[in-house]
Amino acid sequence: QAQLILLSLVSYVIGSIPFGLLLTAVAGGGDIRKIGSGNIGATNVLRTGRRGLAAATLLLDALKGALAVLIARFFFPGASETTMAVAAVAVVIGHCFPVWLGFRGGKGVATGLGTIWVLCWLVGLACCVVWLLVARLSRISSAGALAAFLLAPGLMVLLSGRPLHTPIPVATLLISLLIWARHSSNIARLVTGREPRVKVDQASRH
Ligand code: G3P
Repeated sequence: QAQLILLSLVSYVIGSIPFGLLLTAVAGGGDIRKIGSGNIGATNVLRTGRRGLAAATLLLDALKGALAVLIARFFFPGASETTMAVAAVAVVIGHCFPVWLGFRGGKGVATGLGTIWVLCWLVGLACCVVWLLVARLSRISSAGALAAFLLAPGLMVLLSGRPLHTPIPVATLLISLLIWARHSSNIARLVTGREPRVKVDQASRH
């Protein structure tokens, strides 16, 4: 029990590293929370016009999700599906509610995808395909993310062959619910047709 609490804390701290905020600030782009949607994720970093920074944010946010689950799987005593599931949920919570930013963090998409890649790479791949396809067709990043995490729990059951009540599908469901909850303002804008499209042509190359 104490070990699971320690794992949750380690995963939370890993998740709470705000790469989008740090990279944008270091690159002289100011405070990402004062730009666009105010989110600290890759989509909003793209709105600064810095594609490289946005790609780095996406990658690093995904890697921290993957890292937490890999630690739970390979380095944690008594590693099991439960420890991986706990790490996955805790790292996404860390990204969404980082103590360093007054618990006002990101929306969990890249970090959630990073966890899912390690929990079951086939589901990670399927979610990325859905995400990119919907985002590309609609040119709305949040629509892609919402579609991917609408399907993620079902895909985890179907593609990993694990029953819904077992730790990894339960973790996938919790992460998906959290990501949907964090997109409440995006959902309101989508419903009223006010969600901005990604204007890649306006993003300068850096
Ligand atoms: O990954 C977050 C994305 O789904 C929405 O970001 O900045 O448009 O709220 P944003």
